[in-house]
Amino acid sequence: MRFFDQSLSRFPLASVSDYRLKAQKRIPTPLFDFLEGGAFEEVTMRKNREDFQYIQLKRRVLKDVSNIKMEIELFGQKIAFPLILAPVGFAGVYARRGEVQAAQAAVKAHIPFSLSTVSICSLEEVAQQTSNPFWFQFYLFKEREHSLELLQRAQATHCQVLLLTVDLPVAGARYRYQRSRNRSRIQNFFDAMMHFPWWMDVHLRGGPLTMGNIPQSAPPLHNLSSMRKWMGTQLNQSCSWKDFEWVRAHWKGKILIKGILDSEDARLAEKMGADGIVVSNHGGRHLDGTLSTISALPAICEAVKGHLPILLDGGITSGLDMVKALAVGADACMIGKPWMYGLAAYGGRGVSDILTILQNELKIVMAHLGLSSIKDIHHDLLVKHSFF
Ligand SMILES: Cc1cc2nc3c(=O)[nH]c(=O)nc-3n(C[C@H](O)[C@H](O)[C@H](O)COP(=O)(O)O)c2cc1C
Repeated sequence: MRFFDQSLSRFPLASVSDYRLKAQKRIPTPLFDFLEGGAFEEVTMRKNREDFQYIQLKRRVLKDVSNIKMEIELFGQKIAFPLILAPVGFAGVYARRGEVQAAQAAVKAHIPFSLSTVSICSLEEVAQQTSNPFWFQFYLFKEREHSLELLQRAQATHCQVLLLTVDLPVAGARYRYQRSRNRSRIQNFFDAMMHFPWWMDVHLRGGPLTMGNIPQSAPPLHNLSSMRKWMGTQLNQSCSWKDFEWVRAHWKGKILIKGILDSEDARLAEKMGADGIVVSNHGGRHLDGTLSTISALPAICEAVKGHLPILLDGGITSGLDMVKALAVGADACMIGKPWMYGLAAYGGRGVSDILTILQNELKIVMAHLGLSSIKDIHHDLLVKHSFF
C-alpha cells in the first residue's frame, strides 16, 4: 500500500488555501463574504488561525513509523481520522444540494458530517441520500413546538449525536458581509452572471432553494431580508442551563454543547450531563475580542480533560494544525470554512479533496514527529511557550 493517497495528483490545487482561491473565483462576492466575514474587525477570526503558529512541536527521530494508524473511536463510532465536518448554514447555496454532496464526501472518508439547522437540504433528504448516520446541529428556537418537532425529525432520521449550539443569542455585527449584501440588485445580478457555472449549478439544477428544516410559515429564502428578520426573531436570548435540561430530556442520543470558550462553562456542561463539548467561537463570525479557540483550550482541558470528549474548531486548515490541537488536548477537530471551500470550488469532489489533503498532511506530520497512532499525540509533544 502506498504511504500517501495519490488521488490528488491530477489536480493543480495542493492545499486548503488553493481551494479557497478557487472558491472565491467560482461564487458571487456576497456569498464569499458571507462565508469569510467575521465580527467587527475580525481579530478573533484571524487569531483563530494565527495562534496556531505559536505552537511548536518536539521532533523525535529513529522511530518506526511504517504503520501509522489514524482511526479513533468517538461516541461509539469508528472514524478514519479525528475530524468532523462542522455545521455550516446555507451550504446548499454554494453548490447544488450542497449538504447532500458534503455528507456523501464525509461517508466516503469515514468521518461524520454535521447538518446545520439552517440548511437547504432537509434532515430527511440527507438521510435518504447517505448511507451513514450524520450529526445534527440544533438551535433552540423560541417556538418550543418547532424545536420539539425538529428533535423528533432528527431522531427519526437516526441522528445519534446532537450538537447544541449555544453561542448565538443574537446575530453578530458582521460588517464585511453587511457591506456586501447592501449592494444594488443590478450589481448582484451582474455578479451572478459573471459566475454563470455556479448559477447554473445552484439555481437551475440545485432547486428547490428552500430551508429544509425550518417551518413552512417562515419567509422564503429568496426574500433574504425577511428571512434574516425571521431568524432574528427566533434566536432565543433567554436560553439558560434550564433549557439544556429540556433538550436533554427530549433527546435520546448524545448531546455535545457547541460554543464553549470558558473553563467554568466546560465544568458546568459536564455537571449538567453533556456528553461532550465543542470548544468554538463560531469561527469568530458573531463576536470579536474573545480568545481564539486554540488559546482557550489549555484551561478547558485542565478543567474537564478525560471526563468528557473535547472537540475544537476554528482556524484549522491543515493536518499540522490538527496535530497541534490534539497535542494541546482536543480529542478531535472540526472544520467549517475549509470544507466549504472544497464544496464551492468543486462540489462533493472538492470536499473529498479537502479531506484527502488533511488526512495526508496528518499522516506526514505524524511520520516526521515519530508518532504511530493518534493516542501518541499528547501534551509532551509541545515545546513550552508563553500561553501553552
Ligand atoms: C458560512 C458559515 C455558516 C455557519 N453556520 C453555522 C450553523 O448554522 N450552526 C453552527 O453551529 N455553526 C455554524 N458555523 C460555525 C461552524 O460550525 C464552525 O464553528 C466554524 O466555521 C469553525 O471555524 P472555521 O471556519 O475556521 O473552521 C458556520 C460557519 C460558517 C463559515
